[in-house]
Amino acid sequence: MTSHVRGVIARSKGEPVEVTTVLVPNPGPGEALVAVQACGVCHTDLHYREGGIGEDFPYLLGHEAAGVVEAVGDGVTSVAPGDFVILNWRAVCGECRACRRGRPWYCFATYNARQKMTLEDGTVLSPALGIGAFVDKTLVAAGQCTKVDPAVPPEVAGLLGCGVMAGLGAAINTAPVTRGDSVAVIGCGGVGDAAILGARLAGARTIIGVDIDPRKLEWARQFGATHVINSRETDPVERIQELTGGNGADVVIEAIGRPETYLQAFYARDLAGTVVLVGVPTPDMRLEAPLLDFFGRGGALKSSWYGDCLPERDFPMLTDLYLQGRLPLEKFVSETIALDQVESAFAKMERGEVLRSVVKL
Ligand code: APR
Ligand code: ZN
Ligand code: ZN
Repeated sequence: MTSHVRGVIARSKGEPVEVTTVLVPNPGPGEALVAVQACGVCHTDLHYREGGIGEDFPYLLGHEAAGVVEAVGDGVTSVAPGDFVILNWRAVCGECRACRRGRPWYCFATYNARQKMTLEDGTVLSPALGIGAFVDKTLVAAGQCTKVDPAVPPEVAGLLGCGVMAGLGAAINTAPVTRGDSVAVIGCGGVGDAAILGARLAGARTIIGVDIDPRKLEWARQFGATHVINSRETDPVERIQELTGGNGADVVIEAIGRPETYLQAFYARDLAGTVVLVGVPTPDMRLEAPLLDFFGRGGALKSSWYGDCLPERDFPMLTDLYLQGRLPLEKFVSETIALDQVESAFAKMERGEVLRSVVKL
């Protein structure tokens, strides 16, 4: 039986999003129907609305979600009705070239082709990041559901589905930060603050938050930054070197996605250190710097995709740490909102007023 539910769609480029009726079919083989309980509002949803990711309108937005499995299709054994799950946009297939080489965090499989949810007139919806979760119920591949402890509030659990995982993973998986490291994080929004939290979790000794907004620097301190730099007022490269015995930080995480801040990260890094790019640049951006500096300064330059996470490994581990009081994920939830408030949440996000607005269903 097809479910008729409420969902938030971006009907056409640049237009405000709207709540409308979405038709969700029962799960087919390998699929799961999930009753969404909470879904965070992410920049990527806004990028979809603005046509920055594709032209496959209308989009069913939302992709940072947790909920309860309501039904599963034939052959699904990994989850069952009643399971509390976090949705992920990169379920690992186990079969592609990356998976076979033992590097499943680079898995090429995507489930974005899954386009079975429609409007009442039959128009097929494109689910954001292959999920589409600003909706009472969504249909996903069973591999996109990771079971976690149901004691975690859904508005907290859902965060791990995207931005917070990206930042945490940049620190603990990609870098990876180890005990005693000095770490600088450039850009202290939700992703950067999660990287600060990850650095603290991994045992970093010095954690330096860099931003141009004093309010963000205050939040960075609350997440565990031992020092902060307002890079509008102070040269961040010089200051990071000063704070690290003149050497530069062992790990510098760029959490904005801009060439000028990437170069700050590059020059603020210790010669033997690692730069991690987790901020996502736009296609027009170019990097200009002496190639000799890249040769002469050694070290490692890495990028972090979705925090190089393995959902099955990382989500249950991180939710357990949360339940033990060792990972204050609730600090990312600036507000909980209703389904019809996504558009106003975009505006708050653009003004930098919130880390995360989370829709509760
Ligand atoms: N120097 C320092 N900080 C800056 C600069 C700059 N030139 N420009 C912007 N910032 C700060 C902002 O003040 C803000 O605190 O970077 C932070 C960016 O945070 P958000 O806009 O909240 O974005 P976030 O959700 O954290 O995502 C950051 O990671 O996953 C990607 O697509 C995402 O590219 C984005 C990045
Ligand atoms: Zn996202
Ligand atoms: Zn794979």
